[in-house]
Amino acid sequence: MSVIKGVKGVKDLLPEETPRWRFIEESARRWATRYGFHEIRIPIFEVTTLFARSIGASTDIVEKEMYTFPDRDGTSLTLRPEGTAGTVRAYIEHNRAAIPVPQKYFYTGPMFRHERPQAGRLRQFHQFGVESYGIADPRADVEVIALLWHILHELGLPSLTLEINNLGQAADRDIYRPVLVGYLKHHEAGLCGNCKHRIEANPLRVLDCKVPECRIITEQAPRLSESLSETARSYFAQVLAGLDLIHIPYSLNHRLVRGLDYYNLTTFEVTATNLGAQNAVGAGGRYDGLVETLGGASTPAVGFAVGLERIAMLLPDSQNSLIPADKTVYVAGFGNKGSVAGLTALEELRTFGIPAVSDFRATTLKAHLRQADRLGCQFTLLLGDDEAIKGAAVLRNMESKSQHDVLLSSLPSQVQSLLRPS
Ligand code: HAM
Repeated sequence: MSVIKGVKGVKDLLPEETPRWRFIEESARRWATRYGFHEIRIPIFEVTTLFARSIGASTDIVEKEMYTFPDRDGTSLTLRPEGTAGTVRAYIEHNRAAIPVPQKYFYTGPMFRHERPQAGRLRQFHQFGVESYGIADPRADVEVIALLWHILHELGLPSLTLEINNLGQAADRDIYRPVLVGYLKHHEAGLCGNCKHRIEANPLRVLDCKVPECRIITEQAPRLSESLSETARSYFAQVLAGLDLIHIPYSLNHRLVRGLDYYNLTTFEVTATNLGAQNAVGAGGRYDGLVETLGGASTPAVGFAVGLERIAMLLPDSQNSLIPADKTVYVAGFGNKGSVAGLTALEELRTFGIPAVSDFRATTLKAHLRQADRLGCQFTLLLGDDEAIKGAAVLRNMESKSQHDVLLSSLPSQVQSLLRPS
């Protein structure tokens, strides 16, 4: 029979890797909770229009990266390429605006984009994201950026840069767009094929192109900052002042326009120098128009998402070793009576809350001890027929080799006291 393999760009996380992931997710959750965000769990798939309308019909994501399929009744469905659109839909659908306290959510889970897979770029990847609704105040932007910064810093990720830009309001961009298009048309011949197409479809994205020839041309392009209203400038200045106040370092990047159309005013991205081409660890911004675009009342909003694969790639091993290993007892039940008593011992220890394992294939003490070593267990309960008849087993510390008798009648509490560091 031929072997069935996993889908390209879709990875398994094997048991050796999951502690690293749990460590990252738990750290992010802890920080988000500290900042007053509460978990929301949104569906993996939604109707296609939700993403087309929110992310933007002429973005790369909607144009060529979505996993879209017809439901049995013909409705077009899409696997979520990101979490913001679904969170906004849930916010509107459950009338969360009626709740008189700030609505601040976090989420984590898989996202799907049909991109060309490479290191740090997958077709099924995972994000941790936060979204804050209802607050049109620069302090909300600062709060969200500070949360992003702290999550990444506590994890000890090296060489991070926070880049930030002001995209202004839709009206500002309406003034800027024809100015930029005029300039780009004049230099069209020198642009890459993608950017030629973007001049009409999504001209601001040309500023973000990484092709060196395009960068030279756009370096001289008129800047969006020149078309910004006084309100947009003042808002952004307050965001920067807030970041200064709480000592979050940033660098201004006028090219940061983002690949999703819903942003206005503040946009930001955290990059890492040692991630290669896919260097964005996390990104986000303000998106005050999206709730209304999706049929809700006008609602200011701001949020970000980080890519968990990219964080896992950057996480130093020293951080990973901070994960406390549970003390696991290996139960070596051998012989007819010892095997039966071993099964009872395993059950009692686990019910009491002590992690306990065994390898039922082992039939001799020697084989059991070898498996206990391989499994990295610090303690082994030796339980042969003699011990089972006597009602007392031996708990061996695998490192110090010291041994203690333990009565089977009160096994879990005795083992527990011996596991405690002296
Ligand atoms: P995004 O920039 O598209 O923003 O994605 C956020 C992060 O997800 C990226 O910085 C990257 O770390 C990770 N990521 C994206 N695509 C992939 C991929 N193919 N493979 C691995 N990692 C990837 C958003 O998704 C917005 N929803 C963020 C946001 C939330 N804005 C406001 N609220």
